[in-house]
Amino acid sequence: MRFGTAISTGGTLDDAGYRDLVRPHCNVLVAENEMKWQALRPSEDRFDFTDADALVNFARNEEIDFRFHTLLWEVEERYPAWLRTYDFGAAPAAEAERLLTGHIARVASTYRDNMTGWDVVNEAVDPATGGYRTSPFSQAFGGMEAVLDTAFRAAREALPDAPLVYNDFMSWGSDGTHRDGVLRLLEGLLNRGTPIDALGLQSHLWGGNEAGDFADEAGWRTFLDEVTGMGLGLVVTELDVNDRDLPADLAVRDARIAEVTRRYLDLTMSYEGLRDVVVWGLVHRYSWLQYFQARADGLQKRGTPFDDDYEPTLMAEAIAEAFEAT
Ligand code: G3I
Repeated sequence: MRFGTAISTGGTLDDAGYRDLVRPHCNVLVAENEMKWQALRPSEDRFDFTDADALVNFARNEEIDFRFHTLLWEVEERYPAWLRTYDFGAAPAAEAERLLTGHIARVASTYRDNMTGWDVVNEAVDPATGGYRTSPFSQAFGGMEAVLDTAFRAAREALPDAPLVYNDFMSWGSDGTHRDGVLRLLEGLLNRGTPIDALGLQSHLWGGNEAGDFADEAGWRTFLDEVTGMGLGLVVTELDVNDRDLPADLAVRDARIAEVTRRYLDLTMSYEGLRDVVVWGLVHRYSWLQYFQARADGLQKRGTPFDDDYEPTLMAEAIAEAFEAT
């Protein structure tokens, strides 16, 4: 099994202390933002691989594997501005297919030899309804299924042997609506003969609120049983813990974060098809959690495994123990 983290240019890659954490602890990396359309495709006719290359070169020099994130993110707000307002013309499905397959062919051929796995599509299911989201591509194609089929088939054509992943966050606090929607998406892909190898479990956990406290372990087990029962592998792609609602006391907070992490990993890592556990950042100050739903008391969030002095927290111990236990 591999452990790894998201890394980023302009922040973590440029921090020697962060690189010193990556070297001994990680054998797989993922780009936090640099391989999304915004970064790679600043306009329709221009690709920019500068930042992505910087990350790939670091990993290659350090002999650390890389996973690709993401060939498509089906949330409209996550589209580059030019694509949100794109004029798909008189034959929108054909134009959308040209754009999407062209993007995937170009990017996949660029990094074909550098990646050990690929997030092909991210977040196509609407968490509120379990149905598909609506996006510029889904509208142009006349439905999300055509987007999914086109993306996964183009990825397989360019990457005959690479693991292809559908990645999503499967809302913890819901009644299972989001999870059920993801299951339907996966079943649909398989029924239509669309190539897919694994489900990416983002694993943005919550510590300490009743709704999202990873309380529904039975529901999670049933979900993973269903996914693996379809013959699909699992990847923990973006693990962290949002401690927004935990008490200010650091000892209490860290213990609770570690407890949720350990319980989640013990269950999830018990599945044989799980290969990677990737955290969404190693060090508190660089984590997206600091600006996503900040704590009311303004305190720094603690849901990444190392503190700002690069010292391991109880969460790091919990991850290490979960690895030892498998
Ligand atoms: O750096 C500024 C920060 O100082 C400011 O407070 C904040 C206010 O919104 O903006 C920050 O910039 C952000 C930038 O990345 C740099 O981190 C942008 O707003 C933001 O749009 C962008 O956020 C990234 C987000 O994906 C959208 O692309 C996050 O870094 C990144 O961690 C996040 O990652 C996603 C995965 O790709 C998919 N799964 C969920 C995960 C978390 O949202």
